[in-house]
Amino acid sequence: MTLDRADFPSDFVWGTATAAYQVEGATNEGGRGPSIWDDFARHPGAIADGSSGDIADDHYHRFVEDVGIMADLGVTAYRFSIAWPRIQPQGVGAANPDGISFYRRLAEALLQRGITPFATLYHWDLPLALEDRGGWLNRDTAERFGDYAGFAAAELGDVVTNWITLNEPWCSSFLGYASGEHAPGKRIGSRASHAAHHLLLGHGRAVAAIREARPTANVGVTLNLYSVRPATQSTGDLDAARRIDGLQNRLFLDPILLGRYPADVLHDLGEEEWFAANPSTDAVEIAAPIDFLGINYYSRHVVAAGPTTTTTTTTEASSNPGSESVQFLDTGVPRTQMGWPIHPDGLIDVLELAHDRSPDLPLYITENGAAYEDVVTGGEIVDEERRRYFEQHLAACADALRRGLPLKGYFAWSLIDNFEWAWGYTRRFGLVYVDYETQRRTVKHSGRWFANFL
Ligand code: FCB
Repeated sequence: MTLDRADFPSDFVWGTATAAYQVEGATNEGGRGPSIWDDFARHPGAIADGSSGDIADDHYHRFVEDVGIMADLGVTAYRFSIAWPRIQPQGVGAANPDGISFYRRLAEALLQRGITPFATLYHWDLPLALEDRGGWLNRDTAERFGDYAGFAAAELGDVVTNWITLNEPWCSSFLGYASGEHAPGKRIGSRASHAAHHLLLGHGRAVAAIREARPTANVGVTLNLYSVRPATQSTGDLDAARRIDGLQNRLFLDPILLGRYPADVLHDLGEEEWFAANPSTDAVEIAAPIDFLGINYYSRHVVAAGPTTTTTTTTEASSNPGSESVQFLDTGVPRTQMGWPIHPDGLIDVLELAHDRSPDLPLYITENGAAYEDVVTGGEIVDEERRRYFEQHLAACADALRRGLPLKGYFAWSLIDNFEWAWGYTRRFGLVYVDYETQRRTVKHSGRWFANFL
């Protein structure tokens, strides 16, 4: 495979990504309030290894070293997230100066090394005080999120010009409120879609608040889109694909880019009435014009119709409420340690999903990467599978550009190994290895390959 940086435009953005709760640690410092993840991680059985983000990569104290590593890799951008509970410890009220100061120092350190900050405002760490009032099921949380976004842009907008409102609202709603695999661990079936609506409304309000505080800001949102294919062309399999594409992609893409929810998805969810009862102005707020769309791409789903009568024999709650019977097939392609099938060309499918709806909208891959079990031998991490994953997906990016898709940048997930949510520290995605005993960082072979490519 020949892959050359020259296949990409000279202003293409090359970054790595992380998220606050996954890397920062220092959860009790700088006046930070508790988040839903601090609470969730303490529930027995919630996290595979019983761990939490209390220490994580200690990035809060070691960010200067980490920025140095990024500079050595040669990246031109860093996508990090701002912990809402550092800015508003209780989710309401004035901005906490220590929280602002941390992100200001981080952004300044990046700028000094020629690395452009991309700040995500919500990568899943809702202030716990807001969860106590209903979290994303409470419409008021959207309002609170708008306030927080406005504070962040006003206080940091001189050093951060690229803003991402939400990261993967599908996960926040359907893993947080349907399957319960993520914080806050609720299992309320189709009503999880109410959280999705309030997240989207919060996104719209945040866009407005950022623009008001900083009219020249570059504002977008990040969705986790999946390439979805039916196993066969049978009516049942086509319907299964329609359902999963609907829940995963269209329920978020359509309101943001087209100004309306997909009627078939609301019907599958049995939530038409609830959605119709919301103010009609919501649709306008959610569709506030954005400057770019961030897409996190990891895999493709190949789906088939399940048994027509669903008897609930499992105690596990589904992340696809209303479409529980859809089967996700193993087509035999290689998988990562997460069990996610590797389909580099699916990256082009998801860019097209956005492009078809909004032909002029700049697109970024804001996450892409792979977990593998890393082995340290003689101080080296020879992670050939991860290297190949990156190479294949970058080749897909180059292909997308040749097809004329408006792809403007690529962020590798992740800069460093970190707290992988419900998997704790048992899954490593980093270009840089972290020894959690010593916090020592070692660039993996994949990281060296990436640096070499850059
Ligand atoms: C995405 C999340 C990110 C990370 C990767 C592996 O869904 O946005 O925080 O956990 O998956």
